[in-house]
Amino acid sequence: MCGIVAYLGHKDAQPILVEGLKRLEYRGYDSAGIALLSSSGFRVHKTTGRMNGLEQSLPVDNCDEILGIGHTRWATHGKPTEANAHPHMDFSGKISIVHNGIIENYSTLKKWLQSKGYEFSSETDSEVVANLIGYFFNTENEFDNTTCQSENKFEWSVQQALSELVGTYGLAIMCSDYPDMLIGAKKGSPLILGVGENEFVIASDASAIVEHTTRAIYLSDNEMVTIKGNNFHTKTIDNIQITKTLKDIEFSLEAIELDTYEHYMQKEIAEQPTAIETCLKGRVDIANTRVVLGGLQDQLRDLARTKRIILTGCGTAWHAGLVGEFLFEQIARIPAEVEYASEFRYRNPIIEDGTIVIAISQSGETADTLAAIEHAKERGATVLGMVNVVGSTIARTTDAGVYLRVGPEIGVASTKAFTAQVAVLTMLAIELGRRRHLSYDLSAELLTGLSQLPDKIASVLKQQEHIKQIAKANIDKENWLFLGRGVNYPVALEGALKLKEISYIHAEGLPAAEMKHGPIALITNNMPAVFIATKSSQYNKVIGNIEEVRARGGRTIVIATEGDENIKQYADHLITVPDVTEQLQPIVTVIPLQMLAYHAAVLRGHDVDKPRNLAKSVTVE
Ligand code: F6R
Repeated sequence: MCGIVAYLGHKDAQPILVEGLKRLEYRGYDSAGIALLSSSGFRVHKTTGRMNGLEQSLPVDNCDEILGIGHTRWATHGKPTEANAHPHMDFSGKISIVHNGIIENYSTLKKWLQSKGYEFSSETDSEVVANLIGYFFNTENEFDNTTCQSENKFEWSVQQALSELVGTYGLAIMCSDYPDMLIGAKKGSPLILGVGENEFVIASDASAIVEHTTRAIYLSDNEMVTIKGNNFHTKTIDNIQITKTLKDIEFSLEAIELDTYEHYMQKEIAEQPTAIETCLKGRVDIANTRVVLGGLQDQLRDLARTKRIILTGCGTAWHAGLVGEFLFEQIARIPAEVEYASEFRYRNPIIEDGTIVIAISQSGETADTLAAIEHAKERGATVLGMVNVVGSTIARTTDAGVYLRVGPEIGVASTKAFTAQVAVLTMLAIELGRRRHLSYDLSAELLTGLSQLPDKIASVLKQQEHIKQIAKANIDKENWLFLGRGVNYPVALEGALKLKEISYIHAEGLPAAEMKHGPIALITNNMPAVFIATKSSQYNKVIGNIEEVRARGGRTIVIATEGDENIKQYADHLITVPDVTEQLQPIVTVIPLQMLAYHAAVLRGHDVDKPRNLAKSVTVE
């Protein structure tokens, strides 16, 4: 949520910032802006809307600054106007900043600065940060470099200002009196420093860095970096020198290119056979009927004896957690419950001794999930992470965890992360079940079934054209229902979420049997009802629910098992998926729903990868 990038090196900064912002645009696209600094001062360009608008407005000649900062915004404080676009300058015009996060005490600080004569030109909380740094920088006599350990007044002013802030920030800051210096600071929002050959890139995530260097430092909360010329040092914001380890960025540039696809979401849906194969690789040990999860090896014994598992996450990750709840109870017979991360800490949750919390997140940066983790840890729980982005804050904050290994997910609507989250939860449930009571036969069946999933997903993907036609036939419908039972109920929720977020069609997901307790009143032939009616222990019950809809003139789109002749009579539109053991079905049944949502959004002419009002990686609470 909001992307920031900054460059200091020996190349022209402008194209580097522009390319970086394009890669970070999935984090927000309400406005974009850059500021470049040379000894002759700042050059600032901002625009509302997308990066391509900014790019077109930029000059091409005489752009030889080697220092600059850039921002792509997801609006929190103030409308998406040019005045509210970053970078923000302080009142004196000497300080320029880009900010990702929320300053909770901005209103108090703003009033205080206004009482000192400072004027503001935006409605943002971020401008307060610029002015506060400016206040310390421009105040005479406060900085005494004989007693103060800060390198210079710019760094000192940043530290003073940061100590006043309540809230979260990823910041990149420049000062016109120091045209060879760049400062970055982090608390609660991600910030990475890419270290190249005499060049540095600071960014919200590695995608904006990897083109320039694969060596990076992941800043932790309350840490800052000061880059001056070819050197840099890292400190805590209260000025204690720290040594950080350079790490390798673990993905390549190709992984974040569109290749031959039109949209990242389309690419990421199509990648699922290989993504799941990579996720399972070396972990599913069919020969020995066991699962090897390296990151959890030390935890498995305790986990198998735990009294309760709490799964937490947001949005799609929460839906994966709901599948996990089913799997832990069904396969491992461990009581489990799933909690919205955003609600968790406000409920005074009961965390008994021996409770294990599993936090699920693609980005590893979701603020609500992080807050839930912190709360669970404060109450003494062991917290495990299931995260995709390597080195992300959640990956570093949890006690141990498992990476999803599906490569970067850039489309705002999560797809391959969901199937991988479910795959990892399934592997864990099988391993815990095996250590408890699960029969050898069922363990073997589930493990073999898991290993066959990549091919089964691939066969569903072949129905692209058929699914597109179904989307087309229903494209004028403004309200849809998604219905499933048991392990396919979370899939119904996920199908509805996908349709809502990218096609802006109102959709509800429900347990199929709940429909008759109210929502059935909505059924008309104008409301497509998507049923997941694969062969399962609840197959006949779902057929009953389909009958109830049809009896009221409703139209049905049915996801069924290949070879099921009986189901044809109940479906206005039929999509088949290969036969899969019931517990493993979500990984296959969700695929046609992702495709349905994708085609509906394309047919409606929407920007699939950058849906209205949304951003990936929600780093505000
Ligand atoms: C939906 C979607 C969101 C995310 C949610 C959590 O398609 O992408 O609902 O699943 O914001 O994000 P992560 O998994 O990054 O914590």
